[in-house]
Amino acid sequence: MKLRVDLLPHGGYSDTVLVVDILRATTTAVAYLERGASALLLTSSPEAALNLRDTVNGSGEVTRNERYLLGGERGGLPLPGFDFGNSPVEAAGQNFTGREVVMNTTNGTAAAHIAAQSGKHVLLASLVNAHAAARRARALAVEEIAIVCSGTDERVSLEDVYAAGVLAEYLLAMGEFTVDDGARIALTIRRNLGNPLEALSSSGHGVTLERLGLGEDVRWAARISESTVVPTLDQGSDVPGALR
Ligand code: MLT
Repeated sequence: MKLRVDLLPHGGYSDTVLVVDILRATTTAVAYLERGASALLLTSSPEAALNLRDTVNGSGEVTRNERYLLGGERGGLPLPGFDFGNSPVEAAGQNFTGREVVMNTTNGTAAAHIAAQSGKHVLLASLVNAHAAARRARALAVEEIAIVCSGTDERVSLEDVYAAGVLAEYLLAMGEFTVDDGARIALTIRRNLGNPLEALSSSGHGVTLERLGLGEDVRWAARISESTVVPTLDQGSDVPGALR
């Protein structure tokens, strides 16, 4: 079995893909499902998310489809018209039973779309669900597991590479893999940075979130393997891009 880590999304996946955006999209996605959401829909733009929820008649009156709640951000702050930003702490305080959450974020949802273009199995991974995500990927993969770091604004994110190292450590303990240079970089980062909260707090996006008053999200995202929920692309869904 091959293990590959892309420090930024490159595409061309053919087997099982673990999409990582731990500050904060894939961490928040776990919280939505844990709090009862029946599905996550990842759209390619904020407009696509708004159009899924809202219908505007000829008089400009907006009718909301209460089945959907919108969560997303740009620059870490909630998108206009959305019900939620992209905070896992905020999501963990809600009850999403009977609702589907439509997500659009700066980097994480875009990385998931790239993975879904060719990946046979697409899973959302973070530190909070790392062991469960690694175990599910190991069970599904035939030839290759690709860990895809979302990055931030098309630049490598330290926290995603660190999380990829945690996932790689779990996978290497589960079986034999040939690892690529990306995986070796991720393992080296994980082994040298050690403490997850220090790694996340020192990352560029971690500092940005702390400056925005969202430091609690960083601390939330630093908890390793406390959840067994693994958002998984439902390839047979009637709704494209649904994860459950
Ligand atoms: C992203 O998609 O890059 C992150 O989720 C951004 C954020 O939530 O701060």
